[in-house]
Amino acid sequence: MAGEGAIPPVKGPALQNRLADAFDVTVRPTAGEAPLVETLANDLRAVVTTPQELPVDQQPPMVSDRLPALLDAMPVSPLAEVLRPLARDLDWYQIFDSSHTDPSLAGGLMAGQVIGGRGKLHSKDLYLGLFLLAPHVTYPLHQHAALEIYHVLSGEIYIRHGREKLSMHVTAGEHSVTPPHQVHELRTGTEACLIAYVWTGDLTGENWWWEPQEDGSWDRVCWQRQPDSSWKVTRREPLSESEVLRAGDG
Ligand SMILES: [Fe+2]
Repeated sequence: MAGEGAIPPVKGPALQNRLADAFDVTVRPTAGEAPLVETLANDLRAVVTTPQELPVDQQPPMVSDRLPALLDAMPVSPLAEVLRPLARDLDWYQIFDSSHTDPSLAGGLMAGQVIGGRGKLHSKDLYLGLFLLAPHVTYPLHQHAALEIYHVLSGEIYIRHGREKLSMHVTAGEHSVTPPHQVHELRTGTEACLIAYVWTGDLTGENWWWEPQEDGSWDRVCWQRQPDSSWKVTRREPLSESEVLRAGDG
């Protein structure tokens, strides 16, 4: 019989509950991370979401080229198994506008929201989704007010929490937690990387990239979230000493 044995896709509150349950058992924080991860887990369970149907057009070529192999290589975990059947069916988009940065960088960073403005579950208070990075991409030092977790689903990544810090090597099944305003950088090696991300707390639509200047000083450049969840540059300012301290880079 057609469809026999097929598992119907989980939607609405059942999907949110399943994501929250899977997050709890998949993400095992260190003692130091525990309070922030508990905040993320509680917010994921409690946030009010509304199911929405989004037109899923053709995926960006980077996604259709890279996603299948990343999903094939994805180790089994409760969170991976909730996300696996959704991954190809998300409204994938290029995160950063190509006109303000190196097109190979902008074209190498793609997102597909499960919870968020363009997610299967609409929310303005928490974002959860998949983040796909091409090989040989450095997402430069940046900071935002949201509390963020990256759980690597497939591949590997190097994450640095400050200009003078060493990178952490984060492989499939591992995670990094970034507190609000903490400056951080992501770098891929020879392989692409698939990450599950959660943003919660202050979702102010500003993402500040730090840029070294020719005279040795630093600026920070503001990317502003657009209604379609992508980002555009709106202004820049010198990086102040107080901002450096707030960013955990003092
Ligand atoms: Fe971030």
